[in-house]
Amino acid sequence: MLILSPSILAADFSRLGQQIRETADAGAQYIHLDVMDGMFVPQISFGMPVIETIRSCTDKVFDVHLMIQDPGRYIEAFAAIGADIITVHAEACTHLDRVIQQIKAAGKKAGVALNPATPLSALDYVLPELDMVLIMTVNPGFGGQKLIPYCLDKVARLREITDDMGLPMDIQVDGGIKASNAAQVIRAGANVLVGGSAVFSGDVAANTRAFMDVFREFEEK
Ligand code: DX5
Ligand code: ZN
Repeated sequence: MLILSPSILAADFSRLGQQIRETADAGAQYIHLDVMDGMFVPQISFGMPVIETIRSCTDKVFDVHLMIQDPGRYIEAFAAIGADIITVHAEACTHLDRVIQQIKAAGKKAGVALNPATPLSALDYVLPELDMVLIMTVNPGFGGQKLIPYCLDKVARLREITDDMGLPMDIQVDGGIKASNAAQVIRAGANVLVGGSAVFSGDVAANTRAFMDVFREFEEK
């Protein structure tokens, strides 16, 4: 199934609840929440109080992308405030296996993200434990960047690997994704698309529908 996960990093925070409802009503299935700590990535974004507050705005899947160092410190806290999928960076975990088990023990779906320069082999031993792999298509930390083309080769290779292993993996792409390149990333093998500026700059409902139109073309085939 093709899924749009709008990243609220690019939303108008003074009208956050309303913008979340607009994209959800137009067809977005997830809401992508970018938590940044100013250590793993340069910026500080938002944390638990914001996520907890907006949880009541929608029953859509909360897809929490933790760009924080040693995320194992906070898994239970994010689970308690309503995260449905918790994604941690392989580069940020000294004990990645333990953190994945923590997410699963909390009853949540487990995702691992890889920065552009991190090889897929970082996941060799944990792939069967995961619900989702997030292939970063930009260097994390900022919205509005351009997609790095070689990351699509990584998506394609990962889809081959998970198919060969018989794993029904969600493969998410994040960074520089737009309705105009959505078909390309889907063809590479991604099925969960994060859109920040492409969803929240301008008309949120129309931007969301532009992604849904691309999804429909694939689903009708
Ligand atoms: C980047 C974040 C993204 C960001 C994407 O580090 O993980 O989720 O919001 O923004 P766009 O879609 O504008 O590249
Ligand atoms: Zn993200």
